[in-house]
Amino acid sequence: MCGIVAGVAQRPVWPILVEGLRRLEYRGYDSAGLAVLSPDTRITTARAVGKVAALSEQIGAHGLPGTVGIAHTRWATHGVPAERNAHPHTADERVAVVHNGIIENHAVLRARLQASGRVFTSDTDTEVVAHLLAEALAAGQTPQAAFFAVLDQLEGAFALAVLLRDTPDQLFVARRGSPLVIGVGLGEHFAASDALALLPVTQQFIYLAEGDRGVLTQARVALFDANGQSVERPVVASAQRADSADRGGYKHFMLKEIFEQPVAIADTLEGRVAAGRVLPQSFGVGAEAVFAAVQRVQIVACGTSYHAGMVARYWFEDILGVPTAVEVSSEFHYRNPVLEAGTLLVMLSQSGETADTLAALRMVRRRAPKIPVLAICNAPESSLVRESDLVLMTHAGPEISVASTKAFSTQLVSLALLLLSIGRVRGLLAEADEQRIVAGLEKIPQLAQQALTHDRAIIALAEQLVDKHHALFLGRGVMYPIALEGALKLKEISYIHAEAYPAGELKHGPLALIDDTMPVVAIAPQNDLLDKLKSNLAEVAARGAELFVFADERAGLQDEARLRVLPVTSHVGRISAPIIFNIPLQLLAYHVAVLKGTDVDQPRNLAKSVTVE
Ligand code: M6R
Repeated sequence: MCGIVAGVAQRPVWPILVEGLRRLEYRGYDSAGLAVLSPDTRITTARAVGKVAALSEQIGAHGLPGTVGIAHTRWATHGVPAERNAHPHTADERVAVVHNGIIENHAVLRARLQASGRVFTSDTDTEVVAHLLAEALAAGQTPQAAFFAVLDQLEGAFALAVLLRDTPDQLFVARRGSPLVIGVGLGEHFAASDALALLPVTQQFIYLAEGDRGVLTQARVALFDANGQSVERPVVASAQRADSADRGGYKHFMLKEIFEQPVAIADTLEGRVAAGRVLPQSFGVGAEAVFAAVQRVQIVACGTSYHAGMVARYWFEDILGVPTAVEVSSEFHYRNPVLEAGTLLVMLSQSGETADTLAALRMVRRRAPKIPVLAICNAPESSLVRESDLVLMTHAGPEISVASTKAFSTQLVSLALLLLSIGRVRGLLAEADEQRIVAGLEKIPQLAQQALTHDRAIIALAEQLVDKHHALFLGRGVMYPIALEGALKLKEISYIHAEAYPAGELKHGPLALIDDTMPVVAIAPQNDLLDKLKSNLAEVAARGAELFVFADERAGLQDEARLRVLPVTSHVGRISAPIIFNIPLQLLAYHVAVLKGTDVDQPRNLAKSVTVE
């Protein structure tokens, strides 16, 4: 992961770099650092373990003088979070490098460089880049030739920004496998892992293609493709706003994003349904022809996005009868899956930069180039969107909290739109059924608003969970993925060990875990599996478990000793139920984490966008 930001400005660059890092902290926050070329053309650096605030404190109010600089916020891959492993990495006092990605052949390169007398000061893979550059410059190569030659020696994924003492008015950048965008200012140029970092200074961006490298000066950007040929890339205006990374009046981004769900869902539906029908062209030009040929659906995603895909599998097979498979990207990518003609590949990703998901997409492109790829994504300028045939944007707005909330709800709404579109184009859904589902979708914002009113009651439940060490989440049918999602949220931000099982699977092993120290969180909608779920709950209650049940008002469940029932909603259908029942689970995880005092928006060891495999 990691985030990089760099700039050739007409003003002191350090405040721009620090603000950029703050906005990139979602990519990692193990350490942060920056390097600036001082007016006497020395490279000055500052590095600190922990968050950007620690770096900011270290450099103080006066900052580092200079108009050209590079900066980095780290998610540790090679080497523990420590100052010596924080970027930028330097060599011979003439090279400073920041890097996002993994240099896979770093061990071979390091051994060769050490054998030639170079001394390393970090455990990182990145430091080889600084030494390779210093070596090439010492051998008399021009800076640009040295940079290009070094890129050709690197294997793996990277986005790089390089500062050289020899060229005090230039920055060198490159991307291969990791994102990098150029920000075009007024007589200034910048680069960053995400446009979000640069919104305070520009809204004009150049998205680099795979393998691109470039030289930035105040006045111009010179770009070259992977073969070193000069290329032009278009400048595009971003629609994102600079204040989109602010918390508003909320204590945490996560809470803000949970409460934004009614609007995010309404925004995702906006313009995609009309007069009780879905508009298949919402998926882009050519979507109808693609959907007409769909025989089966393969969904690929990670984490929370994967759980959204699991919900969709229940819907697609149950409502449409279209065979649907869902798999985590890292497994799908490496297991040699059978890719049959007639498959629609659906990639789900909030960020559109998840390395495993992109790798899976590229594997399919190589092996079965005729299989159409649909991206459902929340980041319009992401690699996933640019590499897919069809796109449906979730209009959730920027999601900053590492724990994904509104992205999940809007992915589910988008998957429902996909179901309607395939159903309509393939004639698998009667018009009356389509109208009924559309009407149900249009009610979700209001139902989500109602679900949020349980916030205070959920704080009371959270108080009973906060001291637990483990929790078991149970659901059946379409609520099994919601149980998985609830458990993921709880473990991710409160560090309580949480597992989820299909309730019917309990007696095949997990029941052995149940005693009076094991809280069980269950989701009980009013559906044809309710009686079976109640039997499962009786089984755990009989073994001493304390139960927390999120139920339909008509489920016939009431508070008893060691049974807490939260009536969430009523009259939700099979499309809206998973979206609505998930909301109290998000709030539960949030409040447990707040009570535990964890870092809710930036939980330990994680990053928002997982851009390394
Ligand atoms: O950006 P993506 O949707 O591709 O991210 C996938 C996962 O990394 C993500 O959902 C992760 O599991 C969340 N932190 C969970 O809250």
